[in-house]
Amino acid sequence: MNRAAAVPVWGLAVRVAHWTLAGCVLASLVLYQGGSWHERLGYAAGLIAAWRCVMGFRASAAQLRFGSFIRGPAVTWGYARALRRGREPRHLGHNPLGGWMILALLLAVSVAAGSGALYATDRYWGDDTVYAVHRAAGWLLAALAPLHVLGVAVTSWRQRENLVLAMLTGRKRPAAPGGSGCSPVPPGA
Ligand code: HEM
Ligand code: HEM
Repeated sequence: MNRAAAVPVWGLAVRVAHWTLAGCVLASLVLYQGGSWHERLGYAAGLIAAWRCVMGFRASAAQLRFGSFIRGPAVTWGYARALRRGREPRHLGHNPLGGWMILALLLAVSVAAGSGALYATDRYWGDDTVYAVHRAAGWLLAALAPLHVLGVAVTSWRQRENLVLAMLTGRKRPAAPGGSGCSPVPPGA
């Protein structure tokens, strides 16, 4: 990729939040038997997911707003069919399938952290329902994370673009004329 022509897509805050969130979730899963580090890392993951959800409603940049990257069933299904035929359009932000995955990950993290925090209180300690919710959300995340990485790998291969590198540098190849765009990243996003 011509670095000079690359456009900013992911701001520093989003990139730091992403890799910290990924690290906290993966470490909470490795430490699934509980304990103080499982709880601390889980709280941190929950706070980052909550911040990203607020940004999803309030950010001005299109690639960060849920309203622009969470697409309806018709568009998402159309994208999946185009992908099967090898004719899917490139998206500078999240593609429609990726958008739903992001939402699922953020919801699963929020439920895992929220139920974990509840379970740790005197009132709900030992409560079977709260623990069942925590367990389901935790293991759901363990299933979603590899699917997310698979989606990243397939899109990187299809678009001939290293998306992991883009999540590190924040920059991507510009959109082709008429392609799906994104807005400038506001300071601090
Ligand atoms: C459980 C661990 C993970 C969670 C919860 C997670 C969550 C997320 C979220 C919420 C986003 C959206 C970023 C935003 O719009 O703010 C995202 C995007 C992304 N993640 Fe992860 N992630 C995880 C692990 C990983 C790993 C291990 C990789 C690397 C292989 C990765 C690579 C990416 C990339 C490249 C994007 C941008 C996708 C795009 O260009 O549309 N993630 N992830
Ligand atoms: C992203 C956040 C989190 C994830 C992915 C996660 C995941 C998990 C998983 C997979 C288990 C094992 C369930 C089983 O099969 O029995 C577990 C257990 C547990 N978690 Fe979490 N958790 C998270 C956050 C939290 C938080 C914030 C707390 C408390 C403040 C917490 C407290 C616990 C406790 C007390 C256990 C039971 C350990 C035991 O005695 O077996 N978790 N968690």
